[in-house]
Amino acid sequence: METSLEIDLASFPSSEPERQYAFIDVLREMISEKRNRLGRDLTMHVETFGCQMNEKDSEKLAGILSQIGYVQTDSEEADLVLYNTCTVRENANTRVYGRVGYLGRLKKQNPDMLILLCGCMMQEEEEVEKVKKTYRFVDIVFGTHNIYMLAELLYKRLTQGKQVIDVRKEADRIVEDLPSLRKYGFKAGVNIMYGCNNFCTYCIVPYVRGRERSRNPIDIVRETKQLVKEGVREVMLLGQNVNSYGKTLEPQVSFAELIRDVAAVPGLLRVRFMTPHPKDISEDLLYEIARNPKICNHIHLPLQSGSTRILKKMNRHYTKEQFIDLTKRIREIVPDAAITTDIIIGFPGETEEDFNDTLDVIKEARFMSAFTFIYSKRHGTPAADMPDQVPEEVSADRMKRLLKTVGSTAEAEAVKLTGQTVPVLCEVYKEETGFMTGRLENNLLCHFPSEASLLGSIVNVRLTECAGFYYLGELV
Ligand code: 5AD
Ligand code: SF4
Repeated sequence: METSLEIDLASFPSSEPERQYAFIDVLREMISEKRNRLGRDLTMHVETFGCQMNEKDSEKLAGILSQIGYVQTDSEEADLVLYNTCTVRENANTRVYGRVGYLGRLKKQNPDMLILLCGCMMQEEEEVEKVKKTYRFVDIVFGTHNIYMLAELLYKRLTQGKQVIDVRKEADRIVEDLPSLRKYGFKAGVNIMYGCNNFCTYCIVPYVRGRERSRNPIDIVRETKQLVKEGVREVMLLGQNVNSYGKTLEPQVSFAELIRDVAAVPGLLRVRFMTPHPKDISEDLLYEIARNPKICNHIHLPLQSGSTRILKKMNRHYTKEQFIDLTKRIREIVPDAAITTDIIIGFPGETEEDFNDTLDVIKEARFMSAFTFIYSKRHGTPAADMPDQVPEEVSADRMKRLLKTVGSTAEAEAVKLTGQTVPVLCEVYKEETGFMTGRLENNLLCHFPSEASLLGSIVNVRLTECAGFYYLGELV
């Protein structure tokens, strides 16, 4: 779709987000004209790979596109397809290219189709080169630092008629007040900080998401209030390392203070957060969780490895014993805390003994659930050049054993709650079955007979049966 509608860019505001809203206005006219010509709505398909950060970014991107006039569709046979990519592990990249190839074939049937790639993978120079060379049909490529510019980039593509690539090395600002199209009604993510300064040696995130930047607490509370007005009952505060929140702000604000202020928003029922780093969980935070009924007693605490030797090579700044002690301290202060984790196996140099240390910690820490990953070599990270990369078949075998241990510990933890009455946030109601799906503070789900009117409220449910990773229950 090319167009001759030229505007005087010099008259556009230079401040953000005002500038983007000006582009949205112009694009809305262009899209409306095209809609009239075609006699149908123009559709968009936004797909997210990766973590909650990306999910949240996609809600903003979909918000911008929706204001321009695109209507959401589940199908990739859309007028505009946007992939928000992840690069944390190699298989995330491979998956994206397979799908982009498929989009190229769709575009042959609909030459006006627009294909956009953004997100973490696009922050890597060699990936952008690959798109330039091999995927000429991709219309726009942008990165993690300028998602707010989507409208401007789209305008550029439509008026210049050629591939637009705009990837920035660092974020120059935090742009507030972008539109958003949320995926869920009752829960929402709220960014509290961007980037990461930890440089774990396996991890590409610091390279693709830049240095740590905290949002102003006033903006965070304002966004939360707005979300509550729109019906949100639970927010998840998002950051790569939430304990570092506020260190760059003037005056400094701690994460414990921030979460208290967010929880105080009237009408909000629950607050969660993701992800803290075990090395800097503060006691203030633990006491706030214990004291504050709105903060879920759930801590996602990435272990990564249980071997002190490997943890050192990972640059994690804690030992096996310190991690175990931390889980004990958490339970002293927050007795019913559910602790979940992330684990990587097959990090370079990992021996059977190291792996057994990881199994030990799983049993001692009694994780409620764990995301488990086979180490994936990421170009440009220190671990990629470390000797003794672990052969695939060794990692695959360890993964099997890991899953067994994680499964049985998690089940033992979950079963402990059977028979108890717990508060549950009602999230989804199925008319056909008359069953409500609600979420416990520990993030597990519970199904129980109920009625639609309870959606969005917290009710007490007796957990009658534990089916591994979810419960059946009854309202009390
Ligand atoms: N290989 C495997 N897993 C990784 N993670 C991060 N980088 C890698 C990698 N190179 C995992 C970590 C992190 C989660 C989001 O992804 O466990 O906590
Ligand atoms: Fe999220 Fe990291 Fe993947 Fe980016 S690379 S989407 S920050 S998990």
